[in-house]
Amino acid sequence: MLAIKTYVSLKKMNTFGVESIAKELLCVKDRGMVVEWATQCKKESKSVVVLGQGSNILFVGDFDGLILVNQIEGCQVVREENDWVWVKVGGGESWDDFVERCVVSGWHGLENLSAIPGTVGAAPVQNIGAYGVELESAFQKLNAIDLSTGEELEFDKEACQFGYRDSIFKIKYNNRLFITDVTFRLAKKFVPNFIYADLKKHFSAAEPVTADQMRNAIVGIREVKLPNPKVLGNAGSFFKNPILSRKQFDKLNVDFPGVAHYFQTEGTVKVAAGWLIDQCGLKGYRSGSVGIHDKQALVLVNYGGASGAELLGLAKYIIQTIRERYGITLEIEPKILSV
Ligand code: EPU
Repeated sequence: MLAIKTYVSLKKMNTFGVESIAKELLCVKDRGMVVEWATQCKKESKSVVVLGQGSNILFVGDFDGLILVNQIEGCQVVREENDWVWVKVGGGESWDDFVERCVVSGWHGLENLSAIPGTVGAAPVQNIGAYGVELESAFQKLNAIDLSTGEELEFDKEACQFGYRDSIFKIKYNNRLFITDVTFRLAKKFVPNFIYADLKKHFSAAEPVTADQMRNAIVGIREVKLPNPKVLGNAGSFFKNPILSRKQFDKLNVDFPGVAHYFQTEGTVKVAAGWLIDQCGLKGYRSGSVGIHDKQALVLVNYGGASGAELLGLAKYIIQTIRERYGITLEIEPKILSV
């Protein structure tokens, strides 16, 4: 018999810290529980959503369905070669604890993804990325359970269809899969990744950089720009950086010289949404209990007691402002869960 709780507050289970009551909630400790639910109990629940640490979700109102909280633990080396190690990690493990463990163990490639809130199982869904690295660069495969059938599925890298903050789990399999574990291929030799321009400035050119130093530098950079969700409710970047055609970008750059941007290999140009919002004078904007972070305009914050609807209202205001000024429609990045 599965221990499904009823009418549970999600306030402490989302990093925005907004109140929402879930009709049902099940803490999943192992694969068997998901299979049992999918094959025996599913019909009783209206809709189902998988939750990790709630760091990339906005609850708008109460949730009239079942929340499956991924608490599957475990971390083991499953294969080793001269230069590489393959590590399988439970989907419910904390992402940053795993990155720290990698650094301590001499498994490399994820250092630049330090201090990102959330779980290992949620990381492939949005192909987490920061400071020049995306999860897909070290991803090998994952196992998941199809919630509509209880069937166990394996996805290799190609099957995941990773993109910028995107994967097949966001589109085709939205709310349909429970990711039980993820396997990474990590390097035994550390090669620092300085693609993100500001990173190099942290180190003197003469000294070789260690993995530990890289992790500490990333943690430091994030601490300066991004609010700690334990202090100020937020879900990191609230919008994706829009990707424009070269033609659209050239026009934007004439109308708004200095727009922060990154050329993409496909010939498109990614524009910094934080810059667009900032240039509208909105950084630090506050309306009641919600606002735009004063050090990173891409981050919406809950000053305390805000509802999901208020945060969504602010997001809509930003989208409208950006559209009117630049003719660009921003896309919301976190999952919005509304009834
Ligand atoms: N900028 C401004 N004003 C702002 C914010 C940014 O002018 O208020 C400018 C910066 O000066 C810089 C550019 O915009 O020239 C980019 O800013 P930043 O380096 O802070 O990165 P970002 O593009 O805003 C992305 C990710 C972050 C990730 C950083 C670092 C997205 C949606 N966000 O932000 O990811 O940490 O790059 O790699 O791609 C997240 O997804 O939650 C997240 C925090």
